[in-house]
Amino acid sequence: MIRSALVVGGAGFVGSRLVRSLLGTGAQRIDVVDNLLSAQPENVPDDPRVSLVVGSIADDRVLAGIDDAYDGNTNCANNLWLFNAPFGNVNRSCIQP
Ligand SMILES: NC(=O)c1ccc[n+]([C@@H]2O[C@H](COP(=O)([O-])OP(=O)(O)OC[C@H]3O[C@@H](n4cnc5c(N)ncnc54)[C@H](O)[C@@H]3O)[C@@H](O)[C@H]2O)c1
Repeated sequence: MIRSALVVGGAGFVGSRLVRSLLGTGAQRIDVVDNLLSAQPENVPDDPRVSLVVGSIADDRVLAGIDDAYDGNTNCANNLWLFNAPFGNVNRSCIQP
């Protein structure tokens, strides 16, 4: 079972549904990172297990805060990082996430 997950773009169309699916499987903690470029915060499920960090995944300060929250264990087997590429073009997503 996935214990915790970081969902980038989790306020978006696909990402918010992904968050709901993870909640349904019993995830205990989900961190959503979204800069709200093309989504509304209301899309993120209202659930005590879910927290929304408003910011870009390209911002080092956002990543540092998340890693601290996971006590540096973001690579543990029960933790999952999900990058819901905000742009349809993979090359563009890599160059400008
Ligand atoms: N919607 C579909 O039916 C569908 C189908 C197949 C594939 N996809 C792909 O899935 C991906 C997401 O599609 P979607 O429809 O959910 O789009 P969306 O615009 O609803 O969601 C993308 C989310 O990413 C956020 N975002 C953008 N830049 C960010 C950044 N730098 N840091 C953090 N968050 C950022 C946006 O604010 C938004 O919430 C796209 O790559 C799309 O091509 C979508």
